[in-house]
Amino acid sequence: MDSGAVFAGLHPNPPSHHLLLRSSQTAIKLINPLCTDKKLFSSLQLQKQSRFASFGNHSNSNVNSLKVVSPASTVSFELADIDWDNLGFGIMPTDYMYIMKCSHGETFSKGELQRFGNIELSPSAGVLNYGQGLFEGLKAYRKNDGNILLFRPEENAQRLIDGAERMCMPAPTVEQFVEAVKATVLANERWIPPPGKGSLYIRPLLMGSGAVLGLSPAPEYTFLIYVSPVGNYFKEGLAPINLIVETEFHRATPGGTGGVKTIGNYAPVLKAQGAAKAKGYSDVLYLDSVHKKYLEEVSSCNVFLVKGNLISTPAIKGTILPGITRKSILDVALSQGFQVEERLVTVDDLLDADEVFCTGTAVVVSPVGSITYLNKRVSYGNEGVGRVSQQLYSALTSLQMGLTEDKMDWIVELK
Ligand SMILES: Cc1ncc(COP(=O)(O)O)c(C=O)c1O
Repeated sequence: MDSGAVFAGLHPNPPSHHLLLRSSQTAIKLINPLCTDKKLFSSLQLQKQSRFASFGNHSNSNVNSLKVVSPASTVSFELADIDWDNLGFGIMPTDYMYIMKCSHGETFSKGELQRFGNIELSPSAGVLNYGQGLFEGLKAYRKNDGNILLFRPEENAQRLIDGAERMCMPAPTVEQFVEAVKATVLANERWIPPPGKGSLYIRPLLMGSGAVLGLSPAPEYTFLIYVSPVGNYFKEGLAPINLIVETEFHRATPGGTGGVKTIGNYAPVLKAQGAAKAKGYSDVLYLDSVHKKYLEEVSSCNVFLVKGNLISTPAIKGTILPGITRKSILDVALSQGFQVEERLVTVDDLLDADEVFCTGTAVVVSPVGSITYLNKRVSYGNEGVGRVSQQLYSALTSLQMGLTEDKMDWIVELK
């Protein structure tokens, strides 16, 4: 199926009249509008008229490119001329974004790459008024041999489909999602950090973009993907983070939407997270809202406890996001000889644990140095990186970066 991607836009440093990139199924034309070809030029004009094509003033087209040779190989690639040694986890405008739309009751069919920029929305768009929106997060890594790797993108596609069902939205198929991700990454290739410097964070959004007034599903939906080069999520890097157990606010309730990645789950955690940060903690660990004693997760990552050879994590029961890193770590841990269990984990179990760590696409595997609950602080591994956390971090990142053999068939290569 052709899910994607013809589109138009300016390459900041167009290497030639136009450039053809090939993903596995889709040919993507990057068109230089300075060319005289009338057909190509009219495609640009058309795109400029589209509702989402307003080129924002955040475009990064004035960033130059460098041609570099990977230190670990002889492969050369084009890189944006930015400070690759000091990437944090922040938004950096890149070259292109992907957009695909469909009406309520229809299915997505064809999307396009456009220059990255601001989008135009009706003030009464469903997403702005009623929070009808979902997002995803995954990463692309640049390998020493020049290849570009995605980690389990079909899992993100399926989670978006599951979330869309809950939020009464149409969703792209798994194949459309993966093709659109590939197209967006390839179009922004010069923003993928060099090996070992970070990754390209990929942010797919699905939103009710059509106008509504009374509460109902929006009449139109937009699937959009943008990307940004990133380094570590927590300023601590792989150094242990300090968490506080939240006893007043809850992230999710039974029957609610905690188990899907809807945008409405995130602003409500800002207050607790902000208060925790003001007291010097890295983030908040949430408890279940009924018994107030079972661990759920952190604001944007899942949590694991280690006791001897046993690794435990709270079971998925509708209030916890089923993390793709969580699922992968359970398999990696099993393959490394650990026992794993998904169960109800109590806050008291924290007292007894040898190590605690968090997992997520953004945080990868993040060791926890201490947890504070009702003014009592429990420390782990002398607040250094625990042995198991380190071992699982290395195993997972080696796989994601293509440094070890992919026996699980999790890696999607783009070239
Ligand atoms: C609330 C929440 N929990 C857990 C995760 C981890 O999920 P994943 O491993 O798929 O990134 C995320 C990140 O997306 C999240 O937002």
